[in-house]
Amino acid sequence: MTLQDTPTTDGAVGAVVVLAAGQGTRMRSRMPKVLHPIGGRSLLGHVLAAAAPLRAAQTVVVVGSGREAVAEHLSAVAPGALPVVQEEQLGSGHAAAVALDALTEVTGAVLILNGDAPLLREETLTALVRAHQQAGDVLTVLTAEVADPTGLGRIVRDAGGAVRAIVEERDADDTQRAIREVNAGVYVGDAAAVREALTRVGAANDQGEQYLTDVLGLLVADGAPVGGHRAADPDDTLGCNDQRELAARRRTMNDRVIDDLMRAGVVVVDPQTTWVDVTVEVAAEVVLHPGTQLLGATTVGAGAVVGPDSTLVDTEVGDGASVVRSHVQLAEIGPAATVGPFSYLRPGTRLGRGAKVGAYVETKNVEVGEGSKVPHLSYVGDATIGEHSNIGAATVFVNYDGVAKHRTTVGDHVRIGSDTMLVAPVTVGDGAYTAAGSVITTDVPPGAMAVARARQRNVGGWVARRRPGTPGAEAAAAADDAAAAATDTRTTESADRPPAATDDDQQGRS
Ligand code: UD1
Ligand code: CA
Repeated sequence: MTLQDTPTTDGAVGAVVVLAAGQGTRMRSRMPKVLHPIGGRSLLGHVLAAAAPLRAAQTVVVVGSGREAVAEHLSAVAPGALPVVQEEQLGSGHAAAVALDALTEVTGAVLILNGDAPLLREETLTALVRAHQQAGDVLTVLTAEVADPTGLGRIVRDAGGAVRAIVEERDADDTQRAIREVNAGVYVGDAAAVREALTRVGAANDQGEQYLTDVLGLLVADGAPVGGHRAADPDDTLGCNDQRELAARRRTMNDRVIDDLMRAGVVVVDPQTTWVDVTVEVAAEVVLHPGTQLLGATTVGAGAVVGPDSTLVDTEVGDGASVVRSHVQLAEIGPAATVGPFSYLRPGTRLGRGAKVGAYVETKNVEVGEGSKVPHLSYVGDATIGEHSNIGAATVFVNYDGVAKHRTTVGDHVRIGSDTMLVAPVTVGDGAYTAAGSVITTDVPPGAMAVARARQRNVGGWVARRRPGTPGAEAAAAADDAAAAATDTRTTESADRPPAATDDDQQGRS
């Protein structure tokens, strides 16, 4: 063999075709099958991600059922891929023919995949393409040995082990049904040869459809070299036809993600109840407690602790931060910040280093500076809070006037008293205080104490006069008697007692 004749075995392909026009009737869903989400991507998104490293010059996705939705999704997740419409769903063979017609000249092999196999991995596809290139075949099909081949196409081999045909289960005889090697729905082949064979595919089968799988038998009959490559991990080849299979694939995908995390040094206390999307990044020595879901573009920094029972969507968690029993979306949690239990962080929440958002606090579009705290029972929306400030319990950032949203600015080292209403737009200057129960409607200068509430008035003897005979009236009378007796005693003994505290402006600090 001269150098020129050496087949390339680089695992690259000239074109990728994804078949995604089928209705997915068995899903019993209005959503097109390939758009169903699992582990942070759509089924289609996973297939495209697995094929992306194969560096194909062209990627074509056959759309049909729900074509607008699929094409729109495609433009978001794989803008380089070309959607091609299969007007009528006449079968996978017809779909492949429509796709091949849309390709410009292909240099190298074409990889054709079902759009519903989310567990496919780059390594599996590369191994298939390499096997194809090494053998110099015209077509190579990815296969798998499975325990339960129900519903799948069977790989028929001859006595010498050569692949002869793919037979769909509904068209198979008893001997063929007993075969446990199945068609994964992933094929790599010479574009011209496949295109030509597709013109000869009929629809004389149980479903009356044009089967892509028939191409293999046709090429075998031509005497063309055809191969079958067994996937190292049969899980990779599993498709997804109904909700039960979708759930099973989701579980397998999650098991793989969790496994990788644990190998990389992440502590996953309960792998069964911890769900992590493939798109998430978790640093070493993070602890994930039971019931944790890390979704989307979430990243978790070294040494952070998340859970139990927390959901983080598209959220950045800094090193050493902690999130306990909380729901967080599109937020940034700074290093060593603490969240929860029972906090709800909505989009645009940004917590600085060491900041705290505590129990029953909802935040939205808010910046909480380094070391500042919102410990209890508050709503904080559309605000900037400086550093080392404390927001007392039950404070509300009143951001909505019924028509528009307004911002509140709180400076550094501020002490907002418990149950303060900050009616935006309003600014509280550095070092200022607000008295508990205040309704703040105008700016508070730096260092001022804002008191914005009615002065307390005690109407003496009201209960005895207006609620006579009630347990309250009796209790008050008893207290009066005891106080009178104590006064008598003190007068007699000149007893000295410290004065009672009178500070009524206590802060909701903790
Ligand atoms: C297919 C294979 C089967 C294989 C299995 C693996 C055929 C005939 N059978 O069966 O051998 O074991 O996958 O999961 O291919 N599609 C179109 N247009 C159509 C029909 C289908 O684009 O007109 C697409 C679907 O969206 C899907 C793929 O082709 O992504 C396969 O179709 P599907 O109906 O899921 O085939 P299976 O019965 O699963
Ligand atoms: Ca399928």
